[in-house]
Amino acid sequence: MNRRIIIFTGKGGVGKSSVAAAHAIKSASQGKNTLLVSTDMAHNLGDIFEQKLGREICNIRPNLDLYEIDPQYVMENDFEDIMKYLGSLLSQKDVIGLEDVGMLPGMEELFSLLRISQLYRSDVYDRIIVDCAPTGETLSLLKFPELLSWYMEKLFPIGKVGVRMLAPVSRHLFKIEMPNKDAMNDIEKMFVKLMELEELLKDRDVTSIRIVTTPEKMVVEETKRNYMYMNLYDFNVDGLYINRILPRDIGNEFFDEWLNIQQKYIIEITETFTALPIYRIPWYEEELKGEDNISRIVRDVLTDDHIFDAAIINDRERFEQTDEGYDLRVSIPGADKKDIDLYQASTDIVIKTGNFKRNIPLPNILRDHVVSGAGYENGVLKISFVKGDN
Ligand SMILES: Nc1ncnc2c1ncn2[C@@H]1O[C@H](COP(=O)(O)OP(=O)(O)OP(=O)(O)O)[C@@H](O)[C@H]1O
Ligand SMILES: [Mg+2]
Repeated sequence: MNRRIIIFTGKGGVGKSSVAAAHAIKSASQGKNTLLVSTDMAHNLGDIFEQKLGREICNIRPNLDLYEIDPQYVMENDFEDIMKYLGSLLSQKDVIGLEDVGMLPGMEELFSLLRISQLYRSDVYDRIIVDCAPTGETLSLLKFPELLSWYMEKLFPIGKVGVRMLAPVSRHLFKIEMPNKDAMNDIEKMFVKLMELEELLKDRDVTSIRIVTTPEKMVVEETKRNYMYMNLYDFNVDGLYINRILPRDIGNEFFDEWLNIQQKYIIEITETFTALPIYRIPWYEEELKGEDNISRIVRDVLTDDHIFDAAIINDRERFEQTDEGYDLRVSIPGADKKDIDLYQASTDIVIKTGNFKRNIPLPNILRDHVVSGAGYENGVLKISFVKGDN
């Protein structure tokens, strides 16, 4: 059985922390060594479990550890070497234009993730359950390793194996001071760590993204966008939780309209996210504070013992042979047709929507093909290829 990382994301206040905590309780009760970690700077695991938590991992009972990550502390304590190197790189202000590592956007999220990756590799935990900050931050968090490794590649174009040999020529070539040998080792280490992190987050057998939503207009809109971007970035979203569902039999007319609205959005959600397992969580009459309350979600909703398994979602992208050539179908649920941009780079097809971009490498067989048409329908982008004449 695979060790797993399960990341909970969603709009602010929808119930991410509660749902993540419920999973942690369930996981520990299955005898799996479980870490519940929060990357949200406004931590509340301590509140939920009514425990005082410090900056280190805290064991609250057999198989269940809680951890509220303090990125600043993690940078200084767990990644001293990387910080030293980044510090020296950033001290050459004209390279990046920032004076302090902490000023790099996304740095704190990155270190939270590096720490999670480090803990995963330490082999201690069967399951790491991650409670994230609201959607926007989570997206930039997930984007960051990609961004930074891209950056590293531009800066050191020959990749990690060649980095060491670059030192003598680099000064005039790149107009930056190459760090000394020790620091070079740090670059390599950092490169390797970023690569590993990206690999880990995109490894569908290890990392799942689970989205929490509530049946109301604004939240559903954001949930669709969130899902679309996660798909574009090729993360394995393999579960959706609809939280705060009102009971049907309240017996109070005041709630009728509200029930109808919820019903409408529940239908919309189930029609949009057809590929995903969907879990429905009732609206409880009291706040979900303390383990006893959270355990209600475990009993009412998390009844499937395989809830931690990575679900295999097949309808993301596929190539199909046609009479003229090939069709590529990419699932981009909830995108706006007018907003989709498409172009073909040498070996990739590039899809852009809004500020987001996805590269899909073309299989060898399509290298001599060109795009002959495209259409977007029911959340699926279809791109047709025919053999080019050159
Ligand atoms: N199904 C539910 N029934 C009743 N109360 C709930 C339910 N789900 C969540 N709550 C309550 O709603 C509040 C917000 O929940 P929670 O902290 O889990 O959301 P969150 O998405 O993590 O929020 P944030 O974005 O601020 O981190 C909490 O007080 C929680 O107890
Ligand atoms: Mg929260």
